[in-house]
Amino acid sequence: MLRDLVLQNRSRRRFYQDVPIEHETLRELVDLARCSASAANRQPLKYILSYDPEKNALIFPHLAIGRPSKDWHGPPEGERPSAYIIILGDTEISKSFGCDHGIAAQSILLGATERGLGGCMVGLVKKAELSQSLNIPPRYEILLVLALGKPRETVVLETVGPDGNTDYWRDSEGVHHVPKRRLDDIIIG
Ligand SMILES: Cc1cc2nc3c(=O)[nH]c(=O)nc-3n(C[C@H](O)[C@H](O)[C@H](O)COP(=O)(O)O)c2cc1C
Repeated sequence: MLRDLVLQNRSRRRFYQDVPIEHETLRELVDLARCSASAANRQPLKYILSYDPEKNALIFPHLAIGRPSKDWHGPPEGERPSAYIIILGDTEISKSFGCDHGIAAQSILLGATERGLGGCMVGLVKKAELSQSLNIPPRYEILLVLALGKPRETVVLETVGPDGNTDYWRDSEGVHHVPKRRLDDIIIG
């Protein structure tokens, strides 16, 4: 069961933009993060939710969703995320956030996957611009943005080839391929 969910939980970058995600659904997803592990149980993470097109439009331009190439400049209008969860570090609680936001992000994305949704962790964020765009007070550090929606693309996992290249790629049918290292290559002792 958990393995199925983990396998299904791929980074999704193309969505049915017109399929909305309810505010309550986002709250339930953040509640999964709330119940997750936190270093020394400090719980320094705070969240901003976005689920309406106007607010979404303030967020999208500041994210790098997928590697830019001649064929890809991020998801086009119509395939963009219908919601976002912005994970913030509250510097009045802690100055360092360790891996709390990664754990929170994975809990949220697993919960989204279980609901038939999907998403992508976005670390490449123009943080100053996004803070300004949403008037985020300076005490909050932007750590990760989760782009969410109803997935619109097929993603397949495959094994890294002999050249060791781990770059993800898209084939002519639009299928997204994600090479993963072999289990025996990552357990080193
Ligand atoms: C901390 C972190 C930051 C990431 N930042 C980005 C990002 O800025 N843009 C993006 O398109 N994907 C981002 N990703 C998604 C990775 O590219 C993705 O996890 C990887 O290609 C493997 O695909 P998979 O998640 O389907 O296994 C990020 C993932 C992690 C864990």
